[in-house]
Amino acid sequence: MTQYQIVDDTDILPRDGTIKLHGEAGFAGMRKAGRLAAEILDAMAEMVRPGITTGALDDAVRSMTLDAGAVPATAGYRGYRHSCCISINHVVCHGIPSEKTLKDGDIVNIDVTPLLNGWHGDSSRMYLVGDVPLKARRLVDVTYECLMIGIEQARPGARLGDIASAIQTHAENHRYGVVREFCGHGLGRLFHDAPEVVHAGRAGTGPELKPGMFFTIEPMINLGKAGVKLLDDGWTAVTRDRSLSAQFEHSIGITEDGCEIFTLSPKERHAPPYEV
Ligand code: MF3
Ligand code: CO
Ligand code: CO
Repeated sequence: MTQYQIVDDTDILPRDGTIKLHGEAGFAGMRKAGRLAAEILDAMAEMVRPGITTGALDDAVRSMTLDAGAVPATAGYRGYRHSCCISINHVVCHGIPSEKTLKDGDIVNIDVTPLLNGWHGDSSRMYLVGDVPLKARRLVDVTYECLMIGIEQARPGARLGDIASAIQTHAENHRYGVVREFCGHGLGRLFHDAPEVVHAGRAGTGPELKPGMFFTIEPMINLGKAGVKLLDDGWTAVTRDRSLSAQFEHSIGITEDGCEIFTLSPKERHAPPYEV
């Protein structure tokens, strides 16, 4: 049984498995945190180029986050030490920033989570490094479509399985694999909360969406098979078959008649190629 809880947005409630239903104060907080996440990702479009290290991108994310009066929620999260995750090519998610440089032809995901005034804005986008082969660009385009098709399902009365099914159908129509091991999640005052938002499943199943629910949708789509494995660093997830993987993530809130995307790009840099 799915349990819902109407919350007072001034409280920070524990992760107790209930789905929190927020009010106007929560929407206002998420709007600001989400906008900051989107502004940071907009700025990344001006920095991503061959030769830059992922560590330098992480430094820029940290500075922008702190300058805005926020903190990167990933720093100190379960022992993670960086301000974002940067996942290149066959890295599915949770790539760790380092001295590694971006190369011409790479596709790369940057995932940021500023915590601003007690609210989390969680978003990621793909970036193209120099000249990227058509097959890889196609994967990036379809992954963005998967996210937006999922978001189109998000309205009161729909179920989480409707989102999952729409994403899975679109990806598999292109013969791509949908990663099962990582999911979207409730968020708000907490970074990762109930419900678990899967990206493959059956329409009409799962918890019903209600106004005031906040969660992410963040499909990871592989050019090859869906399988992933974890590297020895305990964080980096890669495709088992070493095929390319792409991901986009938005944080949304369910409204009376649909949903609000908290992390929309102010500069309309929704998906590459980005005009900079
Ligand atoms: N931002 C990721 C997400 O979308 C979580 C990263 S957790 C980290 O949920 F510790 F790996 F940074
Ligand atoms: Co997330
Ligand atoms: Co994220």
